[in-house]
Order: sequence, then C-alpha cells, then structure tokens
Amino acid sequence: MYYAIEAENITKSYGRIKALDSLSLKVNRGEIFGFLGPNGAGKSTFVKILLNLVKQTKGSASILGKPVSRHLSRRNVGFLPENMKVYNFLTIEEFIRFHSELSEITRKNIKSEVENVLRTVGLYDERKRRMGTLSKGMTQKTGIALAILGHPKLLLLDEPTSGLDPVGIKELRSILINLKNQGTTIFLNSHLLSEVERTCDRIAILNNGKIVQVGSTSDISGNNKHLELTVEGFNDDMEREINSLSVKNLVNEGNVVKVYLKGYNEALNVHTLIDGMGGKIFSFSWKGKSLEEIFYDLVKKKDS
Ligand SMILES: Nc1ncnc2c1ncn2[C@@H]1O[C@H](COP(=O)(O)OP(=O)(O)O)[C@@H](O)[C@H]1O
Ligand SMILES: [Mg+2]
Repeated sequence: MYYAIEAENITKSYGRIKALDSLSLKVNRGEIFGFLGPNGAGKSTFVKILLNLVKQTKGSASILGKPVSRHLSRRNVGFLPENMKVYNFLTIEEFIRFHSELSEITRKNIKSEVENVLRTVGLYDERKRRMGTLSKGMTQKTGIALAILGHPKLLLLDEPTSGLDPVGIKELRSILINLKNQGTTIFLNSHLLSEVERTCDRIAILNNGKIVQVGSTSDISGNNKHLELTVEGFNDDMEREINSLSVKNLVNEGNVVKVYLKGYNEALNVHTLIDGMGGKIFSFSWKGKSLEEIFYDLVKKKDS
C-alpha cells in the first residue's frame, strides 16, 4: 500500500524566508485533495517540490510510492502550473499535439489521445482556434487537457480555478469529478474556499508554510459546531447542571444560550435538563461556522 503523495517534515527556506516549515502530509489514492491557503502560504512551493522542480531544504517526499528525486516518480503525473506558458501562434489542437509528441504517448495513439483530452475538457469544437485568441477560461481548460494527456494517475493542479468565471468553475468541477470516478487522484492548490469545499474529499489548510488543519470539509466545520437555544427562564442552576455534562463551554446571553459540546449525543441531555428544570425552549439548533469563517480565523490568528 502506498499513498498518492507522502511528505515528511518538508522544510524549504529561501534565504531567510521559510516557505514551508516541517510539513507532513499524506494524500490517499483516489481522492480529491484541496490544499488551501492565502497567497504566499507555500502551496506552489510544495507542488514544485513534489515535481522535483525545487529541492527541499529538509525532509522527504514521495509520489505514487517513489521518492521525488527519481524521475520515474513523475511518469504517471499530470501538472497544471500556476502560470502556463503558451505559444500564441499555435491552435489549441497543435499545442496539445506538440506536447503529446514530447510525451511517451506512442505515435499511433497521438491522434486519438489528443481528441480524447479535447473532448474531456469540452474544447473539441474550438480546437482550430489559436492560443493567442483564447479567454483565460479556455486557456485554463487547455492546460487541464495537457495535464491529463496519457491518463495520469495523479493530477497536480496549481490554482486551477484562477481566472475562471462561475460557469467555467462549474465545468471544471464536473471534469474533476469525472476524472476521480475513473480513479485519478487529484491534488489542487487554491485560495478559493467555496470551490474546494464543494469539490474536495479532504482539505489541508496551510498558513505560513505550516498545516493548521486537515480533514474532510464536514469534519473541519463539524468540529466547530455548537448548540444554540432560545430559552425563557434560563437560570444559574441550569447553567451549573449543563456545565457538569461533557461541555467545552457555555455562553449565556440571556435568552440565547450557546453550548459547545464535546459530542453530538449530549444535545438531547441539554434539552432534557432544561425542560426538566422548568425552562421553556423556543428554539434548538446546531450552528456551525462556515469553512470560510474557520479558514479566516485560522489564518488571522497565525498572522497576529
Ligand atoms: N524562488 C523564490 N525565491 C524566494 N522566495 C520565494 C521563491 N518562491 C517562493 N518564494 C516565497 O515563498 C513563500 C511561499 O510562496 P508560494 O509557494 O508561491 O506560495 P503560494 O503558492 O501559497 O502563494 C512566499 O513568501 C514567496 O515569496
Ligand atoms: Mg501559488
């Protein structure tokens, strides 16, 4: 059993700047993993280390079970760089064909493979257009087409939604989900939360070169949920009793009581207790922070 990506204590220093600081991460095969963080967090540096374009100062990394220092580790990897360089005078089809000729795809398969990736990203009908005339969204789709040439097992996408409009973002999402359904592992860098939240199975939040949180999106927002009640007649006795349950924190704002529980199961006990002591409960619900708020809090805390 090997991971799609395994990094251990990766540190990367550029002079006095620590772009990555003892970063360890495991990405399972078959998942869509989002690497989330503000500009300058170290996302691109990490991807470049995985591709051996940048050498880490300390630590070790492997992709698809092979150390990144071995060029064979990259054999089944597709990459969309942050700023893709294009040849303006080539058509989309020529540009993709040019890249496929540089790859290990055999001559007789090139034509069908170029057609296949053009269809996958929805550019087949536009294939005769010159690269220099494309919108940012179409350029980005061409980049995805290049990245998926030859059916890579692992896709590394650096800010794939950058410059895409909402329609383009939605199209990209369905492309990624189709690829995942065919067994491709996808690792994507992003500073855009909402997209990562919808597309990714798991995410890591990166700030100042360190992972500050990792898990499924529902785990991350679930861990931060609390119970909010509107109660008439809430009193100190009730507060004391609730605090004796497994409660992390209780905030009494008069009619509104916020209870931060250690487990979901305690919610019913809170209800029973207040009801049994004569409190009138008008509302009772889970309130969660959105991933966006959690992200913002984590990043802000680390900066201050
Ligand atoms: N070649 C480089 N030389 C010096 N500093 C760099 C270099 N590349 C990146 N950095 C610095 O490393 C940090 C992380 O950058 P980067 O990995 O590009 O972040 P992100 O992709 O999350 O925006 C930033 O402070 C950036 O300025
Ligand atoms: Mg970047």
